[in-house]
Amino acid sequence: MKANRRNTKKQFKELSLRPIERKDLRLLRKWKNDSTARRSVGDGTRTFSEEDMERWFERTEALIDRDRRWIVVEGGRPVGFVGLYGIDLTRRHAEIGILLDSGARGRGIGREATWLVFDEAFNMLNLHRLYLHVLSDHRIAQKMYKRCGFRDEGRLRQHNFKAGRYVDVIVMGILASEHAAQHREEGRKRSPR
Ligand SMILES: CC(C)(COP(=O)(O)OP(=O)(O)OC[C@H]1O[C@@H](n2cnc3c(N)ncnc32)[C@H](O)[C@@H]1OP(=O)(O)O)[C@@H](O)C(=O)NCCC(=O)NCCS
Repeated sequence: MKANRRNTKKQFKELSLRPIERKDLRLLRKWKNDSTARRSVGDGTRTFSEEDMERWFERTEALIDRDRRWIVVEGGRPVGFVGLYGIDLTRRHAEIGILLDSGARGRGIGREATWLVFDEAFNMLNLHRLYLHVLSDHRIAQKMYKRCGFRDEGRLRQHNFKAGRYVDVIVMGILASEHAAQHREEGRKRSPR
């Protein structure tokens, strides 16, 4: 609803990404178990115990070539995490994901953190394409991804089951060339004429 729409004009301190460490597990568990996050990602039935998180961390470390995750840091404080999943260096694509602390949402951090992942994906890993799956009723995420340059690529009808009903899933994607073009465009806007 319009009245609830928040102003997300860059209302955050300096943002950076750093690798996940074992000491982050308590926070990561909090974020993954957050009720809104659970409703927004997957079927929302899963909660994570401390032991689950330990196993999750071990798997993450073991699969570092396939999946990479980073903590999003705002002004020195961890505020969420982002990831590239199923990294395929032959076809040069990966799936992107993001989960922010409930207190960090609606301030433009999601958009900026996604841009930081673009740098990792397109400039460091030399990927050609990023894609994602988002629930059709998750308007905030769709809006954020569109503002980052993702395009709608398809609709998986009734692909997910959530709160007693089937929900469509939207596939979105962005190519390295599309990101490079918008990067040039942003640079033009920022540089003095
Ligand atoms: C989805 C998520 C990453 C978005 O990050 P965010 O930092 O909250 O989003 P931003 O502040 O960058 O806002 C993106 C757009 O959505 C809009 N928006 C943000 N919060 C909103 C809210 N509560 N209500 C309506 N619109 C909202 C903003 O207006 C903004 O558009 P604008 O740039 O045109 O103003 C974050 O909310 C989150 O972590 N949610 C839980 C996990 C999740 O859903 N992950 C994605 C799964 S696909």
